[in-house]
Amino acid sequence: MPSITGEVIPFYEVDVTNESKVNAIFSQHTIEGVIHFAGYKAVGESVEKPLMYYANNLMSTIAVMNACLKHNVKKFVFSSSATVYGDNAVPFKETMTLLPTTNPYGETKAMCERILTDTAKANPQLEVTLLRYFNPIGAHKSGLIGERPNGIPNNLMPYITQVASGEREYLQVFGNDYDTPDGTGVRDYIHVVDLAEGHVAAMKHSKPGAHAYNLGTGKGTSVLELVQTFERVNNIKVPYKIVDRRPGDLAECYADAKKAYEQLNWKTKYDVVQMCEDAWRYETAKQSVLISE
Ligand code: UD1
Repeated sequence: MPSITGEVIPFYEVDVTNESKVNAIFSQHTIEGVIHFAGYKAVGESVEKPLMYYANNLMSTIAVMNACLKHNVKKFVFSSSATVYGDNAVPFKETMTLLPTTNPYGETKAMCERILTDTAKANPQLEVTLLRYFNPIGAHKSGLIGERPNGIPNNLMPYITQVASGEREYLQVFGNDYDTPDGTGVRDYIHVVDLAEGHVAAMKHSKPGAHAYNLGTGKGTSVLELVQTFERVNNIKVPYKIVDRRPGDLAECYADAKKAYEQLNWKTKYDVVQMCEDAWRYETAKQSVLISE
């Protein structure tokens, strides 16, 4: 968005599983590095349509990497996920053995990491960075860009903002009998702007081989803590009901964030207070756009 970046960046709308179309773009520009974000990301949908998830997420990664090899692009940054750790003990550390994920979406991330690691081994000039995102929430401070899920949100923050705006009646809190301080699930929420800056740092400090980094704050926040923080900082009520656990959910998931700090010189700047403020600012801006349309 030029009003945020101050630059007009060329944009092509293509299916990145289509290698010849990807190659055509690479032929038109001198590319120093690639950040590969594209992929399906809905956990529930991946359980219903595994082939669609494996085909899309794996083939897009292979096609983009093939184009990099063909056009001699060395730097490749991949959007991975904390889900690759499976049910390890918290905090999750990059040196841990990855455990099975609970759904096809997660499996595609683990498989892509493997594909890219093998490709880096076979092509020593490559600099592959695997960024394991924890739970990105919030929005850009301008209120111009943020999260607008299709249909009923699966993730916690967009659900909270839609309950706060009156679009949905109440939030369902999935279980309060976990072995956590208040019984609800604990996650490492990271502001999307911090996450974005993690990619800039990854590009700057990339090195030969394949290297994984956690992008998280290192701090866990429970569902109820996030709801209460949202209510307090935005001065608005978020009605909720405790319901059964959601299948496949972990009790706790948070990062050991040291490696990214030491090797990428990156750490988060924002806390959950700012994440809640920015998510709500975007939601209210979005509501006014919808009303005026
Ligand atoms: C999920 C995926 C993760 C993916 C992320 C972003 C798994 C196990 N998790 O993370 O890989 O990167 O989405 O797409 O594969 N909650 C409620 N009520 C709701 C929604 C959520 O109580 O309506 C709770 C959940 O039980 C959880 C927390 O809020 O404790 C966060 O949930 P969510 O935002 O869906 O993210 P994850 O499940 O952590």
